[in-house]
Amino acid sequence: MIAADITALPAGDSPGLVLVPATPAERIASIKLNSIAWKGPLDVETYIARENHLFQQRLTRDGLTCWILVDRTEPEGERTIYSSCESYRKKALLAYDGKVEDVGTHGVGSVYCRPEFRGKGYAKRMLEELSCKLDTWQMEKESRGRSLFSVLFSDIGRSFYAQFGWRPFLSSHMSLLPNFKDGEPDGVACDSEARDLFAEDVQSRLCNDQVLTKLRERMRVASQQSPGAKIAILPDFDHYVWHWAREEFYAQKLFSQRDPPVIKGAGNDKARVYCAWTRNFGETPEDNVLYILRWVYDDPTSPEQEQTTIHAMAAILRRAQLQARDWNMSKVEFWNPSPLLQKAVALLDPVAQVVHREKSSISSLRWTGAEQGLGKDVEWLLNEKYTWC
Ligand SMILES: CC(C)(COP(=O)(O)OP(=O)(O)OC[C@H]1O[C@@H](n2cnc3c(N)ncnc32)[C@H](O)[C@@H]1OP(=O)(O)O)[C@@H](O)C(=O)NCCC(=O)NCCS
Repeated sequence: MIAADITALPAGDSPGLVLVPATPAERIASIKLNSIAWKGPLDVETYIARENHLFQQRLTRDGLTCWILVDRTEPEGERTIYSSCESYRKKALLAYDGKVEDVGTHGVGSVYCRPEFRGKGYAKRMLEELSCKLDTWQMEKESRGRSLFSVLFSDIGRSFYAQFGWRPFLSSHMSLLPNFKDGEPDGVACDSEARDLFAEDVQSRLCNDQVLTKLRERMRVASQQSPGAKIAILPDFDHYVWHWAREEFYAQKLFSQRDPPVIKGAGNDKARVYCAWTRNFGETPEDNVLYILRWVYDDPTSPEQEQTTIHAMAAILRRAQLQARDWNMSKVEFWNPSPLLQKAVALLDPVAQVVHREKSSISSLRWTGAEQGLGKDVEWLLNEKYTWC
């Protein structure tokens, strides 16, 4: 299955090729193949264990499909894997013309072609077939019986996935180094209202019914104020648990002598500002990043409230910096920062800039809503790190 005769490879557009869901053994074979690209500091067996651990999480256990491009005449279990990827079914919200709907969607990830097979059109063939299949794949229970969009995060720039319909969206971030001076008299570190959040706090503060109701209302209003559909991946607790399963797996393998990382975010109950984060353990210390997964706060309605929110955000970010320092992370990073968040960052680091990514983690969305009478334009709300898989 893994070894292949590279002198007799089919063309990428050969009618003999077909995209199919992998069998469990083929899924492991495809993970082994892509391990050279993505195992990072883990050995291959531990990398496979990581993938299996993530597969068992609530977010992915019923909706993850490993897809492989194979020759339709080869028998299951003996098929050469020409290219592979994964899709993850997710819950999402769609707002259009003042109405909000629960819809199904897919995230796409782990797009891979082994080095000796590259440049022959296999990934192209796979993504062309995938884009058609995802429209109805696992959508039987959805009221529309189909998905209207899918998302992915490109690490190979803006153009590759665009040729198959995944259009690049805003992909910016800000980051803060964890190297502030202790006891700095900036009025931020001494904010006693900010506190650590544990997993159960994230669930009760960031994932409660009120937060989701507000999100639906915000999307409904937005869909009346400007033309075009608005979508968001539902920021449910399962997303956070998936990211933490990943960080805890690494922490256990790499820092077995330490207690697990239980501080999952920070918040200020009085100002009602919260964020949740996860720690990414990469191949080098520079790749160790504390990512803020999502922010939750109310839009301020007065200048005083705005100042309160900005200060609460800054104090929360300071807590994130402390956690980053504690876990030897190179920085704290957050995606697509709002203007309010940018003002909070300025309190901590006046020279910090918004970075627009051109190569990695390019948020990309393929929209098929126009075929469903929902127009050709779509706006992606809550385009934050929690959506990444
Ligand atoms: C990216 C990858 C899947 C491409 O696989 P592939 O089978 O060689 O790609 P294809 O031969 O189907 O290429 C299709 C087209 O995309 C272009 N293309 C291929 N890789 C590209 C890249 N990294 N960036 C931009 N364009 C690329 C090809 O030139 C080709 O264009 P053409 O149709 O005009 O000739 C493969 O290089 C890979 O596995 N890389 C390592 C893992 C990775 O980075 N995956 C993506 C994670 S987001």
